[in-house]
This record gives sequence, C-alpha cells and structure tokens, in this order.
Amino acid sequence: MKLIALCGSARKQGNTATMLQQVIEGAKSVGAETEYVNLFDLHYTDCISCYACKLKGKKSFAHCTLNDELKPLLERIEKSDAIVLGSPVYYGNLSGQMRSFTDRLLFQYLDYGHVGKGPKPKSFKTALIATMNMDSNDCIKRGIKDSLVWFSEVIGHTLGSCELLTLTDTVLFDDYSKYVYQMPDIEEKSSRIEKIKVENLQKAFDLGARLIKSVIPPQADQK
Ligand SMILES: Cc1cc2nc3c(=O)[nH]c(=O)nc-3n(C[C@H](O)[C@H](O)[C@H](O)COP(=O)(O)O)c2cc1C
Repeated sequence: MKLIALCGSARKQGNTATMLQQVIEGAKSVGAETEYVNLFDLHYTDCISCYACKLKGKKSFAHCTLNDELKPLLERIEKSDAIVLGSPVYYGNLSGQMRSFTDRLLFQYLDYGHVGKGPKPKSFKTALIATMNMDSNDCIKRGIKDSLVWFSEVIGHTLGSCELLTLTDTVLFDDYSKYVYQMPDIEEKSSRIEKIKVENLQKAFDLGARLIKSVIPPQADQK
C-alpha cells in the first residue's frame, strides 16, 4: 500500500507541510510505503485545455500528455493507493500551485459521464487538507467551508472517495512583532506555545492511518 502526500505551500515547515507529515507518519504506522512531494519543487504548467485526454481510442485517453515535471509524478500517483492533497487557503481557494496541479490530475479522468464512473485506473482513497488563518466560524460564514466541501466532492467523484480536513486559525509567523498584522487575535497567536494543537496533529495522523486501512488489498478487490 502506498500513500502519496502533495503539498501546495512553499513553506516547507509550515502548517500544511506539518499536517501532511503527520499524515505520512500515520500511514507509516500501519505499514504503508509513503512519498511526500512539495509541488513548489516542480516546474509545470496549468492544464492547457488540449483535450488530448478525451480523444476516443487514442493512447492519450485518460492521460495528461503535457511533458513537464508533473508527468512522472502523475505516473507515480497512478501506482499509489491513497492520495492526500494539502493546501493553504489563498483568498478563499486552494493555492495556485495546488489548483494548477489538481486541474492536471483530475481533468484527465473526467469523462463528462456518470459521476464516479470515469476512466480512473482504480478507486483511490483520498483526502484534502486545507489550512487557513481565519477561524472556523469565519470559514463557514464566508462560504470557504462550502467551497472546500464541494471541491472534496469533486475529488471524490473523480478519484474514488475524499475526506476533508480543515485546520483553521493557523499561526502565520514565528515572530509576529516583525510583521504588519492588525487582526484582533495577534496577542493570542503570538504567544501560542503549540503552533498546531496536538489534537489537530493527531487528526492528521489518524487520517493517514485510516486511509491506508481502508484500501482494499488488490486480491480482495478482484473477488
Ligand atoms: C496569498 C495569501 C492569501 C491568503 N488568503 C487567506 C484567506 O483567504 N483566508 C485565510 O484564512 N488565510 C489566508 N491566508 C493565510 C494562509 O492560508 C494560512 O496562513 C495558511 O495556514 C498558511 O499555510 P502554510 O503555513 O502551510 O503556508 C493567505 C496567505 C497568503 C500568503
């Protein structure tokens, strides 16, 4: 069993990366092979809407034909069992790096047909982790939660199934006194001891373990 985690934040020790590392640890704890990729280490373009992945009877069907640094990653993803996407929220959406990646990953398997019956190579177990500065009330009030739920449903329909885990109220800076930040929570955030609460790290760890435990072994799948 293999779990691959993809990080859409450039901050290599940031909130998103930390949550994904916990997912990796959780997956390893139940014996999974794991891979961690920071998308900012790769050079790739957005989908160019060539529609080669939709051409009937062609080798390119259900595969992105763009030949850049995503190509080998998309191939490795096809060989994985669980896929975890992690992204900071930027202006109410996933980061641009993650959105470009998900357009390339998901669109190749979309067949404009029956939900859940597209040409994906197999049914993956997936999750989306989104981290954000705002608190959980604002996340709901501003419609961010709804849009994350919607996008996790899209991922689920396209790849197999998708769990959503949100981390709200994140710490942005190691030293708030060095930055312009005028939100009312500055006192609390600058003095917070645990950058990410242990219970949230545990949720990410449990998610990694749960995803791997829910993968049906290939032999059982064929019965
Ligand atoms: C360009 C940019 C836009 C952001 N937009 C939002 C936003 O709309 N809502 C929010 O709550 N946080 C926003 N943030 C804060 C990040 O989402 C938040 O700090 C996140 O946890 C950072 O993750 P990281 O530590 O993995 O980079 C933004 C940050 C940046 C750099």
